[in-house]
Amino acid sequence: MESTGLGLNAIYHLFLIWLFICPLCSNGSWMWLGFTSVGVFEKMECAHLPLTHKQKDLCTRKPHLLPSVKEGARLGITECQTQFKQERWNCSTRGDPSVFGYELTSGTKETAFIYAIMAAGLVHAVTRACSAGNMTECSCDTSLPGTGSPAEGWQWGGCSDDIAYGTWFSRRFIDNSAKNTSIRGEDALLTMNQHNSEAGRQAVAKTMLTDCRCHGVSGSCAVKTCWRTIAAFERVGAYLKERYETSVQVVDRFKRKVRRKEKDHRHMPITKEELIFLNKSPNYCLEDRRLGVTGTRGRRCNRTSAGPDGCNLLCCGRGYNTHVVRHVERCECKFVWCCYVRCRRCETMNDMHTCK
Ligand SMILES: *[C@@H]1O[C@H](CO)[C@@H](O)[C@H](O)[C@H]1NC(C)=O
Ligand SMILES: *[C@@H]1O[C@H](CO)[C@@H](O)[C@H](O)[C@H]1NC(C)=O
Ligand SMILES: *[C@@H]1O[C@H](CO)[C@@H](O)[C@H](O)[C@H]1NC(C)=O
Ligand SMILES: *[C@@H]1O[C@H](CO)[C@@H](O)[C@H](O)[C@H]1NC(C)=O
Repeated sequence: MESTGLGLNAIYHLFLIWLFICPLCSNGSWMWLGFTSVGVFEKMECAHLPLTHKQKDLCTRKPHLLPSVKEGARLGITECQTQFKQERWNCSTRGDPSVFGYELTSGTKETAFIYAIMAAGLVHAVTRACSAGNMTECSCDTSLPGTGSPAEGWQWGGCSDDIAYGTWFSRRFIDNSAKNTSIRGEDALLTMNQHNSEAGRQAVAKTMLTDCRCHGVSGSCAVKTCWRTIAAFERVGAYLKERYETSVQVVDRFKRKVRRKEKDHRHMPITKEELIFLNKSPNYCLEDRRLGVTGTRGRRCNRTSAGPDGCNLLCCGRGYNTHVVRHVERCECKFVWCCYVRCRRCETMNDMHTCK
């Protein structure tokens, strides 16, 4: 399925709607929203959204958090696309409310990553808004100052990022605990999604950094003041991508506890940081319209790379076409007295490879 001409901004709006509505939806039933007049959502009001009681309440009481929800969705989507730019599945989004299409409900590693990165994006955006002083219900963490290790020449001070509120909000907003399904298999998917959302929130906590500033005579750094900050979201994305690579398949029938599918490793507990999935992914090589998989035909590949963007892997052994592209740039620039720069126009011919 091709992505429509909708801009990214429209997609965030749609995703916002999806976040709100999904607790009410079983597989794909939010498709009824599949009209494209996005402008409708611009003026949305909590009361008019088909929300659960709990969510309507959250939406009505905290409308000022909606910009953060939107920013969180933007972070999540763009980071997913950055992390998967070179892979067969490249996290492309579509112009309907399911946004991610098949991958949202397939119960695969890709579903796991989407839930984790979206939950993490929300924590990140809300936490930044808290630290910026934009919220009444949260600010930065001032519980640390006064502690630290003065003997070792440093202490906590200043304004540490406080992820507690963002984490709480992300849980309230995304986890659909009130959902009660009768469809078999859906409980497993729900559990999986919640586990992975939580892993995403953990990723923000795990990647937090300590920043310090030196004090003392002429910058001697005799005393340091340190504070905790959340890492740039790219760092969180890279961390989650590693978790995706090592994600764990679990059995789809479990009573209380999630269990590994691989029998030999059943005894190993599953940690909060691990991403889990139920179903094996398709190989994403060939187009499958039913699943909305585009396949890799026409994708640009790198002939010399041994990574996932290498022509062999990306094109699934089908081979590639080579095109020659002309590249024009300014070169041999010289400073001419006085005062301008004179350059020549250089033309190079480069090979570009695309999958067959
Ligand atoms: C993903 O790949 C498809 C081609 O298979 C391309 O049309 C699309 O623009 C890519 N999406 C992103 C987000 O790079
Ligand atoms: C804080 O609010 C200001 C003004 O509304 C806005 O420009 C800024 O982007 C917000 N910052 C964050 C991190 O939400
Ligand atoms: C959930 O479903 C069970 C049985 O399927 C039912 O007994 C219970 O009342 C339901 N709970 C809610 C909150 O609807
Ligand atoms: C292709 O891959 C090689 C080896 O990984 C790398 O050095 C080169 O920059 C890549 N080329 C492009 C156009 O990305």
